[in-house]
Amino acid sequence: MKAAVVTGTEVVTIQEVDKPVLKDDEVLIKVATAGVCGSDLHLFRGTHAFRKPPAILGHEVAGDIVEVGKDVKKFKVGDRVTVEPHLGCGVCEFCKQDLVNLCTAKAAPGTPKWIGAFVEYFNAPEKTLYKLDDKVSYEVGTLIEPLAVAVHALERAQVKEKDCVVILGAGTIGLLVQVVAREMGYKTIITTDTARFNRDISLKLGAAAALDPLSEDVPAKVKELTEGRGASLAIIAAGADNILDQASACVRRRGEIGLVAMITKKIPFYCYSVVFNEQNIYGAMTYETRDFKKAAEMVNGGLDLDLFVTQKINLERSQEALDVLSRKEENVIKVIVTV
Ligand SMILES: NC(=O)c1ccc[n+]([C@@H]2O[C@H](COP(=O)([O-])OP(=O)(O)OC[C@H]3O[C@@H](n4cnc5c(N)ncnc54)[C@H](O)[C@@H]3O)[C@@H](O)[C@H]2O)c1
Ligand SMILES: [Zn+2]
Ligand SMILES: [Zn+2]
Repeated sequence: MKAAVVTGTEVVTIQEVDKPVLKDDEVLIKVATAGVCGSDLHLFRGTHAFRKPPAILGHEVAGDIVEVGKDVKKFKVGDRVTVEPHLGCGVCEFCKQDLVNLCTAKAAPGTPKWIGAFVEYFNAPEKTLYKLDDKVSYEVGTLIEPLAVAVHALERAQVKEKDCVVILGAGTIGLLVQVVAREMGYKTIITTDTARFNRDISLKLGAAAALDPLSEDVPAKVKELTEGRGASLAIIAAGADNILDQASACVRRRGEIGLVAMITKKIPFYCYSVVFNEQNIYGAMTYETRDFKKAAEMVNGGLDLDLFVTQKINLERSQEALDVLSRKEENVIKVIVTV
């Protein structure tokens, strides 16, 4: 079968690879769609923490079950599904608390333990599967994974007041956080993005304001829109040198800051602001299974995410799919690879 493999820095090659051999608790999925994610870009650019070339791209996937292992109980051939793409060791202190995202021995697609999703056939254990409602397109089904990241980012917050959330960065993740915040009942949602296209989408999705951090004073605007109080929560979904300072300045006393963006270099931060204002900072890494379940329920319940799919590109042209997201020369939120 065909697979899109990163074979060198910014080089994707279509190669023939073996179809996965099923374990008893697994199903084989004929892949319909796979999403290009920021972590695929890291692999593409050679900056990923654990995926190194040669590696098959992709972990956001939707398709049809074409084969089931003998121990599979709840799924059958023909079911349309998506996959929660991580598998814990099952015995560590984190797995015991259902925190697969924190398991240091977890298996993830695109590593020697599990094939990547930019392939014709993808294997997955039954316990990682979620059915897609007939009304849900494969494209939108593929978005359940990043939607689960957004659910987790907000579920990690402990602040009780749901009056105002500021989302710094309105790319795929920031915009999905916006959608989830709206569903959770946040009254005022303010976003920022340097790209006009992203700000426009955010406004279409109902943001009270979508600010340009390069030309507007973001904390001042947030204060203006919250009667001087500031936001109860800021979610960081973009990387910039001033992003932590900006988040802290947007948030009120006893407010919270959630870090979702993967900022892997050191950035300056005036931390006294956190002390003086008694703010909390937390990190959010992928999702727990309950977050993924909630994301799947939202999509199966009719959550409209069609706006997010800006490009559809065939597997054979995976190089172009990665280039589009990497170069950002055209308006892009989510690139979906079709198989
Ligand atoms: N924690 C996790 O589990 C997890 C999961 C997925 C992605 N991520 C990370 O979240 C971040 C966002 O991911 P994404 O897929 O939405 O990426 P993306 O590139 O689609 O979005 C980032 C957005 O930030 C905007 N931006 C750039 N500089 C900005 C600034 N100074 N202020 C405001 N916006 C700015 C860009 O225009 C872009 O729209 C990335 O760092 C990614 O690695 C984390
Ligand atoms: Zn992803
Ligand atoms: Zn574990």
